Amino acid sequence: MRTVSDSTAFITGGASGIGLGMARAFAAEGARLALVDLDAAALREAQRELADVTEVITITLDVRDREAMAAAADRTESELGSVRVLCNNAGVGSGMGGMNLETMKYEHWDHTLGVNLGGVVNGVQTFVPRMVERGGPAHVVNTSSGSGLAVTGGAQFMYCASKYAVTGLSEAIVNLLKRYGIGLTLVSPGFVDTRIAETTRRLDPAAAEADAMDSDYREKLERFEALFEPLGQDPDDVGAMVLDAIHHDRLYCQPDRLMAEPVRARCSALLEAMPPETERDRQMVEMIQKVRQ
Ligand SMILES: NC(=O)c1ccc[n+]([C@@H]2O[C@H](COP(=O)([O-])OP(=O)(O)OC[C@H]3O[C@@H](n4cnc5c(N)ncnc54)[C@H](O)[C@@H]3O)[C@@H](O)[C@H]2O)c1
Repeated sequence: MRTVSDSTAFITGGASGIGLGMARAFAAEGARLALVDLDAAALREAQRELADVTEVITITLDVRDREAMAAAADRTESELGSVRVLCNNAGVGSGMGGMNLETMKYEHWDHTLGVNLGGVVNGVQTFVPRMVERGGPAHVVNTSSGSGLAVTGGAQFMYCASKYAVTGLSEAIVNLLKRYGIGLTLVSPGFVDTRIAETTRRLDPAAAEADAMDSDYREKLERFEALFEPLGQDPDDVGAMVLDAIHHDRLYCQPDRLMAEPVRARCSALLEAMPPETERDRQMVEMIQKVRQ
């Protein structure tokens, strides 16, 4: 899309951080906004700020709730017109449960995967068929993470699992969407100065158990959380980078180089693990290319 002006953008996690940064950038270019979030108070504040700039509605919902997403899509399209920009951005960090092999429970998996992956799936399933039916120009933005590209240390294993899945989903559908004139951008930030640590603690199903948590794990989490403020990028800068990626129809939006070395090391290790090329490998590549044509 050369511009988002005069388009409607639907942004999950739009009340805060990177989602709000995208909202500000899109509003400045003239997009109408549907901001969607669990946090009703933060949504009200965002609406107060942005209503001076553009038409904005807010919808309080949980991105895991499929019926609520469908109702939000209907409401947005009836009040603001067809959604041309979809930002599947709401997310949470690993929390206590997602960093601790000894105390992890299914509820931690369900929460992390439900919000970070399920929320993106629900956004894609709710809006993409509508976009495909209408045809482009339109754009999907999926927020993954540096932890969706490579692993550093492995402490946040549930978060990594959810974000790798968002990366895979995005890379797999980008070419399918292209056939309909729809672009896709995958945003994979390193550290952004948002309230993600606070959001994660507030929504963490293990929050009640935090006091009983092994002090080593608690310290590890606190040390990690403390990195966001001094090292974090301004979420408005990330919002502007996302808008630029939409303008230029870029798949990858990399706000920083934090993961450059881990990504290089991962790719090298994978290539090194592969056996020497055989005639069968060459035939498989040819066959796959024929199937794609
Ligand atoms: N901040 C970073 O350093 C960083 C790095 C990489 C990726 N990310 C990703 O960026 C995205 C945005 O996070 P942020 O850093 O702006 O944090 P944030 O906490 O400021 O914003 C996230 C928003 O998502 C909302 N949310 C959480 N669970 C929800 C649910 N179930 N339904 C609806 N809304 C929900 C929260 O209320 C919050 O307003 C997330 O997907 C996060 O994983 C952030």
